[in-house]
Amino acid sequence: MRKPIIAGNWKLYKTSKEAIELVTLLKRDLCDVDTVDIVVCPVFTALSDVSDTLTESNIRVGAQNLYWEDAGAFTGEVSAPLLKELGVEYVIIGHSERRQFFGETNETVNKKMKAALRHQLIPIVCVGEVLKEREENKTFDVIRTQCEESLKGLSSEEMEGLIVAYEPVWAIGTGKTATPAQAQEVHHFIRQLLTKMFDEEVALKVRIQYGGSVKPENIAELMAEPDIDGALVGGASLKSESFAAIVINSCSKVQTRK
Ligand code: 13P
Repeated sequence: MRKPIIAGNWKLYKTSKEAIELVTLLKRDLCDVDTVDIVVCPVFTALSDVSDTLTESNIRVGAQNLYWEDAGAFTGEVSAPLLKELGVEYVIIGHSERRQFFGETNETVNKKMKAALRHQLIPIVCVGEVLKEREENKTFDVIRTQCEESLKGLSSEEMEGLIVAYEPVWAIGTGKTATPAQAQEVHHFIRQLLTKMFDEEVALKVRIQYGGSVKPENIAELMAEPDIDGALVGGASLKSESFAAIVINSCSKVQTRK
């Protein structure tokens, strides 16, 4: 059985002080949760403080990006060894905002995936179609290309630990969530694709998160779908009440499956 995983992508929000305040509340409110993996992904400058605050808690820390070289003349970049030094365990790679605003491509995503895995960071690799692509019935083609190119050259062993986040771009920050059926259709497609690219054993182990306007009110119905293993949450991860409620409401999946 795949353990559900809920991750908060804080994007470019929260100073270190605000970040410490938020995780202090989450630590208190979520200390009893052990059936769902919980991750928060603050901005780089808050990683150290957040990681210190969460020491010995059940909440793990993720970064929102990394560079594929370990060190060198790469002004402004941050590498996997530097993240590891701060206690970071996860890293979001290829978020649609990075693809849209910072020139991220499937090729750079692939290099970053390999760098993360080389240093035992768990990648959360994001895929998703824009509205025009969905309207033109190109969703599956887009997802197939993103998965094939981003995951190129990875071993079955490397695949088993990683997380794929399906984030339809039209649902991000818009309040417009994909219906559970729309999300399930793509999640199922991704799992079938992973079976073809690797094998069934790998495909059954990879956790696939949904992302795009996830809220406490819609998480349970999304999680009820067989191929949805968690969520990558943006806006609603910035407040302790809503993020804690999403984590707690996602636990119903675990109960139903027992
Ligand atoms: P929202 O939850 O704000 O729609 O953002 C989703 C997202 O981009 C998570 O990575």
